[in-house]
Amino acid sequence: MAAGVAVVAVVGLGGFVAYAWQPEIEAGGRPAASGFAPELVKRGADLAAVGNCVVCHTAPGGKPFAGGLALPTPFGTIYSTNITPDEDTGIGRWSEAAFQRSMREGVDREGRHLYPAFPYDHFTKVSDADNQALYAYLMTRESIAARAPENELPFPMNVRMVLAGWKLLFFREGVFEPDPAKDAVWNRGAYLAEGLGHCSACHSPRNIFGAEKGGEDHLSGGEAEGWSAYALNQASPAPIPWDVDSLTHYLHEGWEARHGVARGPMAPVNSNLGTLPESESRALATYIVDRIGAPSPEKQARAQKLLGETPAHAPGVLVQSAGGQTNPVAHDAADRGAALYAGACSTCHDAGRPLPYGGLRLDHSTALSGPSPSNPINVILQGLPAPEGERGPIMPGFAGSLDDAQIAELLAYMRRTYSDQPAWEDPADLIAEARARGAEGGQKALSTGTDAPANPSKRETTW
Ligand code: HEC
Ligand code: HEC
Ligand code: HEC
Repeated sequence: MAAGVAVVAVVGLGGFVAYAWQPEIEAGGRPAASGFAPELVKRGADLAAVGNCVVCHTAPGGKPFAGGLALPTPFGTIYSTNITPDEDTGIGRWSEAAFQRSMREGVDREGRHLYPAFPYDHFTKVSDADNQALYAYLMTRESIAARAPENELPFPMNVRMVLAGWKLLFFREGVFEPDPAKDAVWNRGAYLAEGLGHCSACHSPRNIFGAEKGGEDHLSGGEAEGWSAYALNQASPAPIPWDVDSLTHYLHEGWEARHGVARGPMAPVNSNLGTLPESESRALATYIVDRIGAPSPEKQARAQKLLGETPAHAPGVLVQSAGGQTNPVAHDAADRGAALYAGACSTCHDAGRPLPYGGLRLDHSTALSGPSPSNPINVILQGLPAPEGERGPIMPGFAGSLDDAQIAELLAYMRRTYSDQPAWEDPADLIAEARARGAEGGQKALSTGTDAPANPSKRETTW
């Protein structure tokens, strides 16, 4: 009996080692940039934008794709690597086969397992043809000599062989399979969202091993860099339900009239999508709106009511003066949150100035209806940077003028007034953490980005 167990264990271990072991793919010479067709390189550029490669593979102030960005994870810090064609420190000596394998299987040229901070659990779905274009794009970038710092991981997480066990449990290799019951646009959206776009890397919750939860939990909301990434399934907290047109606009432009401006780690996703034909955002929107599903009759009715109302806002916060001017007045002097809102926020948020320069009517805001106050806290502390072509910030940061208790009162007031959701739990810890993050350079992470790599100084992933 014991012997039998031992045999099974040895055979099991042998099988695991055979599974875990990956051969080295021999280093080659660096392919000449002129050998790649310009159309192929252009296609690769578009695909790299969907994959956000430059966002993770560029250190603050560093050269694009030269790596070295610190990715804090619950297990320690992992640094992105140099994926420029430098022969010694980048991937210049990688054949296309080695690149294809890294995307499909999460294994480097030498046969070592890669950490899933590199989202190959999604990139495995990318087609060979698209990987070929990505390879052509990367091999024609400027070659930069730069070596990423050593990862800071405790034992056993620093042993790459351990990742084979993680993969066995959580990684399913394989190219995207189209759903024959859906049309081409839906399938394009699903391919982009689940593959290169790795939307659920932020928008799904993760287990204690840092793996995304699937099934019902897929796209049910997650977090990234201290921001909450809202549910994009039936649990979507958006007060005005998304439809394909509004979501296409949001993804392509980075804001939408009834939903507000994209912030934090979502901002570079949008600015990258904005460089592509709008049809790609439309495909993504088609797929995501289908995942969200039709709103419940109650939700639909509430949205109709909100849209039908002329700015009602907080009862009594705005009063019309004799000259027709609107003056902010707190309706309840005893309510400090209401008074703060009337004094500091109402002039912009209730003025009806169109987005993206005016503030959203906050009863339309997902931020105030979501399950966590993280996003409004970040916005209140840091404000929002100037949009392209404007000089001042569109919303000033209040980190210097409101203390933690005032922010908590403001949040409680806004939640009560602008959403139909139950009060948030005491946000004191979240406010303190957000303040600390902001102090160490969070402003950069708020960049709404343009085509320049919007590089948060630190990117946090669960891995
Ligand atoms: C969320 C952050 C993130 C994104 C987005 C990302 N990467 Fe990475 N990538 C990493 C990290 C971190 C590593 C290093 C993993 C390790 O050391 O095990 C890595 C490693 C790699 C490697 C292996 C390089 C080597 O030297 O071993 C390749 C190739 C690569 N990435 C290509 C890409 C491409 C192409 C894209 C866009 C389609 C991309 N990455 C997007 C984080 C990211
Ligand atoms: C790096 C993390 C990250 C990735 C990757 C990401 N998102 Fe987001 N997303 C966020 C965060 C954080 C927010 C909240 C931003 C805010 O409050 O402005 C967000 C907000 C959104 C919203 C607004 C939802 C609402 O109800 O207001 C949509 C829609 C969305 N993301 C879609 C996508 C799609 C589609 C993809 C893939 C193409 C994607 N996201 C990839 C982090 C991410
Ligand atoms: C100078 C004008 C201005 C002031 C003052 C201002 N905001 Fe904003 N705010 C904006 C603009 C513009 C946006 C971006 C558009 C949007 O998303 O609402 C914004 C966005 C927001 C959002 C995100 C809404 C969403 O879901 O998209 C919240 C929450 C918010 N502001 C709260 C506040 C609070 C609380 C105060 C007062 C402490 C305040 N704002 C003061 C202009 C302002």
